[in-house]
Amino acid sequence: VSLADIDLSDISFWERPMAEREAAFAVLRAQPGPVLFTEPEIPFAPPGTGYYALVRHADIIEASRHPDVFSSGRGATSIQDLGPEFGEYFGSMINMDDPRHARLRRIVSRAFTPKMIKQFEVDVEAAAVRIVDELIAKGPGCDFVTEVAAKLPLKIICDMMGIGPEHYQAVFDATSVILSGGDPEFIADVSRAAELLLGAGQGLQDLVVSLAAEGGDNLTTALTSANIDGEKLTMQELGSFFILLVVAGNETTRNAISHGLHLFSENPGQRALLLEDLDGRLPGAVEEVVRLASPVAWMRRSLTRDHEMNGHRYREGEKVLLYYWAANRDESVFTDPHRFDIRRTEGPHVGFGGPGPHFCLGAHLARREITVMFRELFTRLPDIRSVGEPDRLRSSFINGIKRVRCTF
Ligand code: HEM
Repeated sequence: VSLADIDLSDISFWERPMAEREAAFAVLRAQPGPVLFTEPEIPFAPPGTGYYALVRHADIIEASRHPDVFSSGRGATSIQDLGPEFGEYFGSMINMDDPRHARLRRIVSRAFTPKMIKQFEVDVEAAAVRIVDELIAKGPGCDFVTEVAAKLPLKIICDMMGIGPEHYQAVFDATSVILSGGDPEFIADVSRAAELLLGAGQGLQDLVVSLAAEGGDNLTTALTSANIDGEKLTMQELGSFFILLVVAGNETTRNAISHGLHLFSENPGQRALLLEDLDGRLPGAVEEVVRLASPVAWMRRSLTRDHEMNGHRYREGEKVLLYYWAANRDESVFTDPHRFDIRRTEGPHVGFGGPGPHFCLGAHLARREITVMFRELFTRLPDIRSVGEPDRLRSSFINGIKRVRCTF
């Protein structure tokens, strides 16, 4: 693979075989400076604008540690570039800098601490048991994504937000439109992308309004009753916060679980190692799955001022994409980075983001969900495996699996 063959902004790059993509990122990491690309070909990107691709682990760590220079305030993705009306639904704290970001994050951060997640463990376990019960009752094959991987994170985040099962499908569909817009299965007609995205946002905002009226002991109530300096959240803040939590807590973990099954199916030696000491090796296995899956391929930052990093001078206003997917395969940090190795000790990986204010709020929860799901699956169905190649999501942003056959 030569530099001229690599265009990260072309969605078809992400459809190339894994080995080719890995080789391409190795070429990018070896360049003396960052490489400039046009904005990824996602329906909501304005044409002709450029961004630098950060692909080295060290650069991503450094950019994450300096949010005063590498700001999220001009959009951590490009969705808001489409127009001011998108801010209504998608202008949440992930697109803000401190201090406002920190004040908003604090409203819900306690619910995501390891202590609170531990208390919640019984519910996660009960949900996982039910999913595997249903799987076994149905028979020796399944679509792993819809019948297993999607169910747990969707149920858990909906429980936390006070969303009843009658809305699960609507939440699932809205998330798919919002995060997977590059895939014709979710947005068939790109000229209608804006309308569909706004529709998905409005649907979720309507849901938060009806939940707020119901009350109850849940995170939606925490958001509606919160106040910052005596002020309640505005409708825009409430709606976009709710959408952020529902969307971020759902598809990402689903993809990690699906990739996990596929990785264990392609690497029977690693499965054997895991089964030898399930409880002891699950924590390492979960980190390794998230590293290689990197369900969120990148997030964006914008330069607040001129700044030199790693020999390159960035200019105020320029955009950079932090390719977590690439940093997680950086050969200067991970030995033999493409190998799935659940006993790996190097790191940390940046699958949940870099060390900074936006590090994934749901990381502890996601780890619990993945751990509990695989513990339940591998205890009861130790030979469950994927069959054939997964049907991958067409996206340059989410490393997703839409369907994958499984057998047990
Ligand atoms: C932020 C990945 C699960 C909620 C992030 C970021 C990444 C990420 C990379 C950093 C964003 C940035 O750098 O700008 C993942 C992955 C997950 C996962 C790979 C599963 C394997 C979850 C879950 C929740 C969640 C279960 C639960 C609600 C959030 C929120 C933020 C975030 C709210 C924004 C934090 C902020 O801006 O302060 N996630 N996430 N995530 N994640 Fe996750």
